[in-house]
Amino acid sequence: MFTIKNGIDLKEGIHTLVVGIYSDDKKPTGITKEIDGALNGHITELFKSGELSAKLKKVTRIHTLGALGLKSIYFVGLGKKKDLTYRNVRDAFGRAAKELKSSKQEDIAIALDSFGSEIEITQTAHALAEAFILSTYKFEDYKEKKNDKRYELKSITVYSEENEATVINALKTGEAYAVGTNVARDLVNTPGNMLTPTDFAERAVNISEKYGFEYDVLERKDMMELGMGALLAVSQGSEQDPKMIVVKYMAKKDWNDVLTFVGKGLTFDAGGYSIKPALNMHEMKSDMGGGAAVLGAMEAVGRLKPDVNIMFVIPSSENLINGSAMKPGDVMTSMSGKTIEVTNTDAEGRLILADALTYAKELGASYLVDLATLTGGIVVAFGDIASGVMTNDEDFFEKFERSAEEAGEYVWRLPMFGPYKKILKTSDVADFVNSAGRLAHPIQGGVFLSEFVGETPWLHLDIAGTAYSNKTSDLGPKGATGVMTRSILKLIEKFETQS
Ligand code: BES
Ligand code: MG
Ligand code: ZN
Repeated sequence: MFTIKNGIDLKEGIHTLVVGIYSDDKKPTGITKEIDGALNGHITELFKSGELSAKLKKVTRIHTLGALGLKSIYFVGLGKKKDLTYRNVRDAFGRAAKELKSSKQEDIAIALDSFGSEIEITQTAHALAEAFILSTYKFEDYKEKKNDKRYELKSITVYSEENEATVINALKTGEAYAVGTNVARDLVNTPGNMLTPTDFAERAVNISEKYGFEYDVLERKDMMELGMGALLAVSQGSEQDPKMIVVKYMAKKDWNDVLTFVGKGLTFDAGGYSIKPALNMHEMKSDMGGGAAVLGAMEAVGRLKPDVNIMFVIPSSENLINGSAMKPGDVMTSMSGKTIEVTNTDAEGRLILADALTYAKELGASYLVDLATLTGGIVVAFGDIASGVMTNDEDFFEKFERSAEEAGEYVWRLPMFGPYKKILKTSDVADFVNSAGRLAHPIQGGVFLSEFVGETPWLHLDIAGTAYSNKTSDLGPKGATGVMTRSILKLIEKFETQS
């Protein structure tokens, strides 16, 4: 998709050129100055009249009407130099790509260095690849009339004076991050009847085989042998077989220091007997957003081949109602041996994750990160903007917080103060209840999971609000966002540089 060149020749017959401009540049500079010269000061005039604005994310298309070798120029506003961040550059690229898409541009050129005066070139190049692939994403729907075939940018020529290998490498990384994120989006957007736990496992197997990862999919009978009572209880009310998907990416000779991602894979959550209201129940096809992010990261890991041992675990089930479904008041024994009284069948994510976390530890997990669309409370608190985080390890948290910041995703921590740890220990008959009502319920979710991780450094990411959005953004359409795929990829990078 990308070709790298240095030295822009304006006479060369480039069809469309994309250039970044800053609002604190009172006169055209760099490549814009060259263009201005070739157009007899026309660009300076447009700046003066205000027709060409460098306001952040403002995209202006200028036709050259044959005055230059190139036909049109897209100027992309980057605002003030001092305020420029990775996130802003990436969003501006996203806007530009959307404009290019709406005018069906297929072959374009980018003056990369004009975007990169304030941040590292590796970041600029990464932002470019990531934004173009993310912002033009479209889910292949099931409408009879295929309105527009998936728009594709055929070629992007990237002009830069920077080291070619550095630029290519950063573009490839950005591409892997975005393709991984889009893998997650596709999974989340797929309706529940077309993505059952069996289908989910098949997708994981496909990616594993493509990249030569070791994998194992546990069936119901394996789960019974292992005593995964919590996961089995959730799947009891469904005709679909549950799956426990395990994929190992073994980068090192020895299977230690294993960074492990555990993603909630509820392919549909009706709530069970504690049934959900009808109004937005259809959105619960997205209740495997955590598992989707894990699979998305797996795709990117296959492309990037980091030097870190990684394990991916996805417990997958439906949460429905039938004659054998679990009932409020039922007590089950989890794989860990701890017993749980189900006070609310709709708090099912923590049940399947409990067994997945226990199993992951048994398989050698040294660091655990669970990702889950776990609670409605986190949606109320943070909306579709930030994901909630809970942890038992300061260093691990700090590393992750930096990763999310670098990935341009928002995360915020919730506390685990002592008294919170007692809320769930109120059952008369079991070790815990799975839900103790409304008070602090997102925290209850994390505290519940913490009971199954023990001393292993652990992060819990509640992405119920962020995995799915009803608004379009600079980086994509409404629907699935693929949230946290990129943050966990950054975290993997951090483990790579430390060892
Ligand atoms: N899958 C839901 C959480 C959810 C809510 C995801 C909204 C996305 C959007 C989860 O299984 C659930 O039902 N949680 C309950 C927990 C409660 C019963 C303690 C909730 O949040 O209401
Ligand atoms: Mg539920
Ligand atoms: Zn759920």
